[in-house]
Amino acid sequence: MTTASPFPTIDYDANDYDYQDYWNGRDYEMWSEDRVLRRLIPQLRPFSWFADFGGAYGRNSRYYLHEAQQAVILDYSATNLTNAAGRHPGSLDKLGLVRCDLNKVPFADDAFDAAMVIRVLHHLPDVDHALGEMGRTIAGGWLIDVPIKHHLLGLARGAVNRRLADVRNAQPLVTGASDEKYFNFQLTAIRERLTSLGWRTRLGASVNNFRRWESRVPSTVARYARPVVQGLEACTQSVGRGWLGPSQFVVGTRTITPAPRFGEPAPGLPAFTARMVCPACRGALAWTPETAKCGGCAREYHRHGPYWDFVAH
Ligand SMILES: C[S@@+](CC[C@H](N)C(=O)[O-])C[C@H]1O[C@@H](n2cnc3c(N)ncnc32)[C@H](O)[C@@H]1O
Repeated sequence: MTTASPFPTIDYDANDYDYQDYWNGRDYEMWSEDRVLRRLIPQLRPFSWFADFGGAYGRNSRYYLHEAQQAVILDYSATNLTNAAGRHPGSLDKLGLVRCDLNKVPFADDAFDAAMVIRVLHHLPDVDHALGEMGRTIAGGWLIDVPIKHHLLGLARGAVNRRLADVRNAQPLVTGASDEKYFNFQLTAIRERLTSLGWRTRLGASVNNFRRWESRVPSTVARYARPVVQGLEACTQSVGRGWLGPSQFVVGTRTITPAPRFGEPAPGLPAFTARMVCPACRGALAWTPETAKCGGCAREYHRHGPYWDFVAH
């Protein structure tokens, strides 16, 4: 289900959905992403401030939390953020939780040194806008998981369905029901958009190259075949860059000079609040321990237990 707005946003909280359950029985995908994140996140160094865009319950926090001085998960889902708090009880002093729409990010330009956005772009109907909005808040390195439409299987499917031109062109391929659409992209179009925003990009890895194989074979076969498929995944994460798998991990870099300077948070408030702005008008915020009020448009935002709600209405 999506919310109605200029940027329809998928609502992970609808129908009591819990994204944590999605990962049951997906050992191969988990393994394959772990392999690549352990290799690519260190390539974003050095970073003190880290953003996990669409970070949900913090599934990937182990790759940045030990290193970051301050990290923030930005996500639209209140359930996912509440679960993130439950899963990181000892780290909430350095892990901020902010509910927001990635089309209106409530942080100042260059607020973060580095960031990741994993398994999120396929939810973004106006990806060009969202990339600009997320990207302006990152000063250094960015790991972007791009769901592509022209991977090997996608091209084969396109040929069979006589839709090869649609699979190859620069327009996103839209699938799914009218109220829950999924977007897959042409890699070149995404990289060109990032270049226009001032990012240098390179291909980091082709990931989940044999996605869903586990669910298509009996469990005994899966058990014996797993090491073989994992070996194939390991070999193809590099050679498959740009063409083989449905998830292409892109590393973006840019250099901001001079380094941005930020003030101190109000007494009793976490450090990340000093880098936040109003998501509606980017005005400065006046803080109390429970509320942030915009000096520009007078909108108010509130803390709800472990997370701050910055969805701008
Ligand atoms: C498939 S999950 C991925 C979570 C995490 N990055 C991971 O790799 O496990 C997608 C997440 O993106 C969030 N999301 C999707 N569209 C969003 C938007 N426009 N603004 C904020 N969050 C969004 C969802 O709420 C959800 O938590």
